This record gives sequence, C-alpha cells and structure tokens, in this order.
Amino acid sequence: MLQTFKHATAEALAEIAEEKKVRSTNELFLLFSMGSQFDHLIKQKLDALGVFCLVADPASVSADDVRQINPNGIILSGGPASAYEQPPFDGKIFDLGIPVLGICLGFQMWAHHIGVKVSLSAKREFGTHTFTATQKTPAQQTNFKLFAGLPSQFKVMETHGDIISTDNKLEIIGTTDNTPVAAGHYQNLWGVQFHPEVTETEHGTQIYENFCFKICGAKDKFPASEVAKKKVDELRSKIGTKKVMLALSGGSDSSTVAYLLKESCIAPIHRLPPKPGLKHQPINGHATQQILGVYIKGIDRPDDEENVKKYFAAENWLTVKIVDATDKFLTALKGKISMHDKRLAMRGIYKEILETEAKNFGADFIAQGTLYTDISESGGGYDSGAKKAQIKIHHNVNLGFSLPELEPLADCVKDTGRNIGRSLGVPEELLVRQPFPGPGLVVRIEGVVTKEKLHTARLVDGIYIEEMRKWKLYDEIWQAGAVVTNSMITCTKGDDAVQGHVIALWAVWSVNGFTARAAELPYDFLKHVSQRITNEIREVGGVVYRISDKPPVTIEWG
Ligand code: XMP
Repeated sequence: MLQTFKHATAEALAEIAEEKKVRSTNELFLLFSMGSQFDHLIKQKLDALGVFCLVADPASVSADDVRQINPNGIILSGGPASAYEQPPFDGKIFDLGIPVLGICLGFQMWAHHIGVKVSLSAKREFGTHTFTATQKTPAQQTNFKLFAGLPSQFKVMETHGDIISTDNKLEIIGTTDNTPVAAGHYQNLWGVQFHPEVTETEHGTQIYENFCFKICGAKDKFPASEVAKKKVDELRSKIGTKKVMLALSGGSDSSTVAYLLKESCIAPIHRLPPKPGLKHQPINGHATQQILGVYIKGIDRPDDEENVKKYFAAENWLTVKIVDATDKFLTALKGKISMHDKRLAMRGIYKEILETEAKNFGADFIAQGTLYTDISESGGGYDSGAKKAQIKIHHNVNLGFSLPELEPLADCVKDTGRNIGRSLGVPEELLVRQPFPGPGLVVRIEGVVTKEKLHTARLVDGIYIEEMRKWKLYDEIWQAGAVVTNSMITCTKGDDAVQGHVIALWAVWSVNGFTARAAELPYDFLKHVSQRITNEIREVGGVVYRISDKPPVTIEWG
C-alpha cells in the first residue's frame, strides 16, 4: 500500500481500491501526519480497531484530492508547529463536511480556521491531567458522541504550549484545570487537546472507536482478533484430527500460521490444566504429532535457524524439524544465471523437500504463510477479466503439491497478517522481524550462486542488520537487504590491488510491500556499515546504496 497519500493520482486510486478489496470494505480514514511524535501510535490504534487508515501528507493533499477518495473521516495529528503559523494544510478540507478529529495541533488548526483565537498559553500543559467531560442535557448528547460510554472524568496526557480561547462559535465538550477548551465541537469538526493514542490517556481507544463508528458511521471492522477467530474456525473444520506439516521459516507470516494451527488443532486440549510434575503435557497422546514445522536450511540468513529453535523447538504443541538442504540447493542452482531460473530451481527443491517431509510425517495437509502480495505478484489474485502481470514467481505460489494446502493468510497483506499474529500472542520479536523472502539469499546474489557467494551474502547481512539494530534503525525500516552483485571493483587492501564484489545495500519504507520508498538512511550509518563490510570481508571491494523506489524497482534485487 501507499507509504503516504500525496495526490489522488490514477495509481494511488487504484492502490486504494485494491486495498479496500483485500479488506472487503468501502470505508477509509485519512490520517494527516502533522509531525507529532505519536503519529504512528494513532495509526496503530486505528489498525487495531480494524479500520482502513491511510496516512496523508498535509503538504501535498488538497481538498480536491480528499474529495476524490471520499474518506469516512479525517484525523489530524498533533505536531510541533503552531496553528497561527499556517502549518502546511489545505484549510478547505475542513469545509468538505467530512467528520474531522483534530488532536492537539489538529484541533487548534480547525479552531483557527473557523476564526477562534489560538494563542500561546501562559500555563503550558505537559503531562497527565484530569479531564472533565462537560455535562449536557440528553438533547445535546449528539455532540458528545466522542466520549460516549466514558466516565465524566478520566486521566489524559497533554503536551501543548498553545491554547484555544473560549468562544461562542465553538462548543466546549471538556476541560482540564489549565485548559478551558480541552475538547471542542463545531459542525463536522471535533477536537481534543490531549493525546488519546498514548497509554497515559485513559479510554483512548474508546475515543478513536467513538469517532470512527459513532461519529463517522463506519461499519466495517477488520479487527485482527475477529479475523483470527474466523480463520481458526475454518481451519478447525478442515483439519479436525488430521495432521499438518507447516513450512516454518520463523518470519512473521509462517509464525502466525503456526499459532493459527495451534489454536485450530489442539488448543482446547492444550488449555487443560497442566498435570503436576510433567514438563511437556501429554496432549491427547498424539497432539505433539499433529503439527510438524519444517525449517529448510541452506539459503537462509545467519540467525534464522537459531530464531526458529528459540521460539518453537521447546513448544509442546508442534514438533520442529530442521532440514539442511544446502547441497541440494547448490546443485540445483549450478549454472543458473537469470533470477527467474534461479527462482524456479529454488522452488523445485523447496517443493521436493516439503513433499518428502510431509510424506514421512504422514501429513494430510501442507501449510504455508503465503500472503496476498505473493499471489498477486506471481500474477494471481482476485478474479478479474483484466490481465495481470507476473512480476516474479514467488517460491510458495502454485507449487502443485500432491496434498491439499492450507494458506490461511492468502487474503492478507503484511500488516494485517502481523495484527492477526499479535492477537494470537505470537511473540512480538517474531512479528517485528523484517520480512525475508522465501527464496532467501538466492535473490540477493547476482549470477551463479556458489557456496562462497552464499558465505559472503551471510557475512554482509550479518553486519548490515547488526549495525541497523545498534543504530536503532531496525524498527523504522520495513525491510533491508544486501546484494552480492557480479560487478567487480578494483580496490587496494594492504598493498595489493585486488578485485572485490560490489555490495548493493538497500532499505525501504513500506506498509505491506506493494509499494515501497527507498529509506533515507543517515549517511554516517551507511559510511560506517560500508567501512565494516569492506574491512571485514575479504571478497568485498566496495559498497553502494540503492535509492530507487518500488515501483519501478521491486524490493528484492531478483
Ligand atoms: P518484491 O521484491 O517483489 O517483494 O518487491 C515484495 C515482498 O515480498 C518478498 N518476496 C518474497 N516472499 N517468496 C516470499 O515469501 C518469494 O518468492 C518472494 N519474493 C519476494 C520480498 O522480500 C518483499 O518483502
């Protein structure tokens, strides 16, 4: 999906339509990010509520753009600017009649727009305060929907230096000690001077829920827990007491599928009170044999195998098997140069191993963490008369297994899959891992894949990701990778002039991988990583950074 909505271009409208299809909804909310430190928390709250929220760029989106995408509601976040300094935003958006919720600066902006005075406050409010919702007669309650179901007093977190004057034009719907207009309403505009998105504010989720569903009239919820429940029911009726083999990479998708299977297959038995003294509970005698997680090793990153062992090996509801396929992969990849051929070779081995393991296990189903993105890029997706391009054949799509497949996330994109995982209690560390493609390092090596190049790719990835974590960039970046290119560069290491591989680093910001923007990584970070890579890895000559967005490039090199 779009990183940020900037203009109602044909491309943006098509992407929005696609995302609505995925979520089976016609509803949409726009979040104008005014620069608050809490913007992403608002987004998380709305995602958790199950509404489709698109982040919008206030500097470029016009009232006409908004009219074209016709959102159910608009949220303006807080930000460091002052309303009277004219922060970038098309004020005509307030006049469209679409419900608006302004948070802090967002509230001050619409107040200023309708002619209410906003000025520097003598008493600034930073920290937690008691908010009191104004009491009204039942006839006036409609304007108070924002606080429906809430107590008349609760704690809120405020951080603002500006204050909105009391003015007859604006209806005051709440106050705090130092803020006479802590919440207000005018026609289609609602506002609060506090931050409902932070944990310090009580009932914050309910406030966003009231805005979306009671004020904006949204109906469609895509709450992860509901979706998860539905998926568990579907899986349970398919699986019964049969056996499932899962391709388990330890990434967020296959880990989420593992937890869905856990709930579907054995969860009710698993929840029986533990028998004293037993480490692993005997779950109906064969329950640990109902799910087998197969981890295929050979084209993976340095820490992937350990990660799977750490989070799954000790669990008593599945058995984990590590299959070392390094030699099989290398043999199949011998002489293969084009990425498409290498992808096909990889798929062949992947399929062969899963078929063999499934047979040995006596599985009735093969489960995978396939996402809608994988299917769509492989040329599949929703039924449509329109021709669809095959961008790249994903390792897990249309493999033609001899057993029936279970792909419970096939209608999900990355962030919705993650939310389902979260609702099932998948460890957060697994969910926030950056995505890694099924074909692994194969798509990050140019030309023929050799043992040596695989080794180099692992070393480079290890340094890049380690430094990304150290520099606290890992969580900000949607995905990052390093490519061993076939370009050789002349370099001097010691007194020798040698040739070394050029390594291409890339990192992207994205929401779910459909589109992506090259991340603007700090130069000092890139310089440091480049120095470490060229100093520590003999085979590397130099490092470059890719600055192209998707489209036109795809996220992976191949
Ligand atoms: P691209 O490179 O197509 O990737 O822009 C979009 C997202 O999908 C991942 N990717 C794959 N994932 N099997 C997968 O499971 C594949 O064959 C595959 N190819 C790409 C890629 O890492 C990115 O997150």
